[in-house]
This record gives sequence, C-alpha cells and structure tokens, in this order.
Amino acid sequence: MTSQTTENPEYIYDLTVKDAKGKYVNLGIYKGKVLLIVNVASKCRMTNLNYTELNQLYEKYKGQGLEILAFPCNQFGEEEPGSNDEISEFVCARFRSEFPIFDKIEVNGNNASPLYKYLKLGNWGIFGDDIQWNFAKFLIDKDGQVVHRYYPTTSPLSLEYDIKKLLE
Ligand SMILES: *[C@@H]1O[C@H](CO)[C@@H](O)[C@H](O)[C@H]1NC(C)=O
Repeated sequence: MTSQTTENPEYIYDLTVKDAKGKYVNLGIYKGKVLLIVNVASKCRMTNLNYTELNQLYEKYKGQGLEILAFPCNQFGEEEPGSNDEISEFVCARFRSEFPIFDKIEVNGNNASPLYKYLKLGNWGIFGDDIQWNFAKFLIDKDGQVVHRYYPTTSPLSLEYDIKKLLE
C-alpha cells in the first residue's frame, strides 16, 4: 500500500484517506461528483439537526451526483470520544446515515490531515484558517475545486442552493 498522504497535493483527487475500517480510499473515486466534506461529532449536543439535514441533502441529491464525506474529529471540546466503530454505529443506528463516515482525524495544527490542510488553503475562517468547531463544511465542485467554506453554524439545508448550482 502506498502512504496515506501526499504532502503537496495539486488536486483533492491526489489525496488518500482512511475509511472507518482503516482501509485506504483514494479521493480520485469521487471525480465528477460534487463533494460536501464535514468534520463531525457524534456526541455533541447540537449535532442532531446537522446530521438530520445532511441526511436530507444526501437523500435528495445523491442521485444527481452529491457525495457527503464525514470525518470524525475530537479537537473540539472532546465531543467525539468514541472509536470509529462506535461512531459509525451511532450515526447509522440513530440517523441511518448512508453517507460514508471516515477515520477519525485532526483538522487543525501540525497533525491536521493532509485533506484538511488542503481544504483550508486560501479558505479562511474567523480564526485564520483554523476550523472553528464541529460541522464546518466545505463544498467541492465536480472538477475538484474547493468553492465554498461554511461556518459550523451554517445549517446544511442552507447549502442547498449552492449544491444545486454545482450539480447543474
Ligand atoms: C450544527 O453544529 C454546529 C456546531 O455544533 C452548531 O453551531 C449549529 O447550530 C448546528 N446546526 C444545526 C442545523 O443543527
């Protein structure tokens, strides 16, 4: 197996991440899809509505080429303490999420996953490029360009207009 990461990827499709079972997934399999990438927390008090709305978006638009990629992260208030299996079970059992939940990662700091280093390049939030909290959202067009970064407080359903435009 090649290494998990590419240090200076030119395209998001050059990156490889791990799924919840530890298997490597090259993001190249998502070429031609509109991607919504979210750092999630399962045990966060405010998570329910985010998951519910993400599910609604996925149900409505997966047939048209939307993929939602969720990455558990425990850098925010230790709200995501479970193992990958627990996280998948939680999301699947409680919310019947069909979108993939990947391996737990860090999104800020030196150990941030190469995917998040890439996503944050040139996409600033209120704390520089740091992710502020769970449920920051990135929208990637069919050519792999990171076109929007949304705050954690932006509700998934309010992205619908932008997603529809990218799917056209
Ligand atoms: C999603 O989660 C963020 C961060 O916890 C929160 O600020 C926001 O209100 C939540 N949105 C919804 C729609 O639940």
